[in-house]
Amino acid sequence: MGIYQIAVDGPSGSGKSTLAKGVAKELGIMYLDTGAMYRTCGLAAIKRGISPKDSEKVAQMMDEMKLEVKFEDGVQHMILDGEDVTGLIRTPEVSVAASDISALPVVRQSMVSMQREIAKSQSFVLDGRDIASNVLPNAKYKFYVTAKAETRAERRLKELNERGDFSQTYEEVLRDIEYRDEQDTHREFAPLTQVPEAVVINTEDYTIEGTRDFLLSHIKED
Ligand code: DC
Repeated sequence: MGIYQIAVDGPSGSGKSTLAKGVAKELGIMYLDTGAMYRTCGLAAIKRGISPKDSEKVAQMMDEMKLEVKFEDGVQHMILDGEDVTGLIRTPEVSVAASDISALPVVRQSMVSMQREIAKSQSFVLDGRDIASNVLPNAKYKFYVTAKAETRAERRLKELNERGDFSQTYEEVLRDIEYRDEQDTHREFAPLTQVPEAVVINTEDYTIEGTRDFLLSHIKED
């Protein structure tokens, strides 16, 4: 098929990362988690003690900091100023900072150009919010993954707990998800978008394997 891209968009906790990862593995292609890049920018702001909503300070930070995406044995690592921060970007605090900072055009421009550069080197599955609508409008396959907020909050809580993080209650996780949905959907620049040609997958309807197989069936039909 040559080099091709698969776009997987959807809201927080929809299951799109698990799905995108599984699909990439099955097809023997690479997986890029674009949310991890915005999370790393959010973490950078926290580390520097600046507000992720302060566009001037963030613009200066983007100039100064060095963000790299590295793949080791196919696994994505986020490197911030030479430090591997992959294990530090999944906290609730970083989630909110990532949502805030990703609304700034200066951040999006820089991340989107890195994403396009990475995705053209070989076949990739990318997951995010604006992959089909903005990053790769010519992606060969486009999927939109969704589930209701309560289900997404339950999954997120389980994920946090499995990592030994018991800092939030279900209500707090749900509130964060609703905050991020609102912000990610209504921001001015490249919001979460369901393009008309995307195949919609409601992950409530299937198991993890079922979701993956449904997506793969659309690819193999081609
Ligand atoms: O997918 P995630 O929860 O790891 O993403 C973290 C934040 O980054 C999310 O609140 C929205 C933002 N994001 C974005 O704006 N565009 C993307 N392509 C991916 C993530």
